Amino acid sequence: MKPDDLAALIAARRSNIFIDAESVVSDAQIDQMATAAQWAPNHKRTWPLRVAVVRGESRRGLGEVIADAMAARGDDEAKVTKARTKYLRAPVIFVVASAAGETANETEENKYAVAAGIQNLLLTAEAMSLAALWSSPAKGANDVITSFCSMDNTDQVLGIVYVGTAKKEATPASRPPTNVRFLN
Ligand SMILES: Cc1cc2nc3c(=O)[nH]c(=O)nc-3n(C[C@H](O)[C@H](O)[C@H](O)COP(=O)(O)O)c2cc1C
Repeated sequence: MKPDDLAALIAARRSNIFIDAESVVSDAQIDQMATAAQWAPNHKRTWPLRVAVVRGESRRGLGEVIADAMAARGDDEAKVTKARTKYLRAPVIFVVASAAGETANETEENKYAVAAGIQNLLLTAEAMSLAALWSSPAKGANDVITSFCSMDNTDQVLGIVYVGTAKKEATPASRPPTNVRFLN
């Protein structure tokens, strides 16, 4: 791959929630996306990436536990209702979490590594012509999500990523110029 090809892939990736819920993402594609995430840089090789692949009726279960946690916090009722079924919008939902480290600094750096891993996952989805969107977990729902996904309760969920075939192209986006300076 030439640098320009990589640059084009990076620039082509868009967050896109317009996903065909009935589309098929193969096990091989899922494996390739998850493996790409594991190839992110990782200080001290602590391997903090934790991934759950949520499909089928489990997507509804994920929405239910998150919605219940939101309701318990007193979140807006319309948002709670929406959360119950929102993960049915894509055939594959990756729940991506970062393991706690042995120190606060390691825990923080683990999160950087996992965030870099999520970008690897998204770029791999783009290379497969799949649509994807990195969404944030609802506030206060970390424990129910990690429990639902059989993760450790010290894991921190950094993203809930929707993946599937696009049913509509994402709105084109632009970027401001990079804030960069050269010190020679
Ligand atoms: C940490 C993180 C959390 C995000 N959470 C959400 C979210 O909850 N809902 C959403 O629609 N998009 C979410 N996004 C996607 C951003 O909105 C999106 O990346 C941004 O609008 C730029 O668009 P682009 O990805 O198409 O370049 C999140 C992105 C990041 C990095």
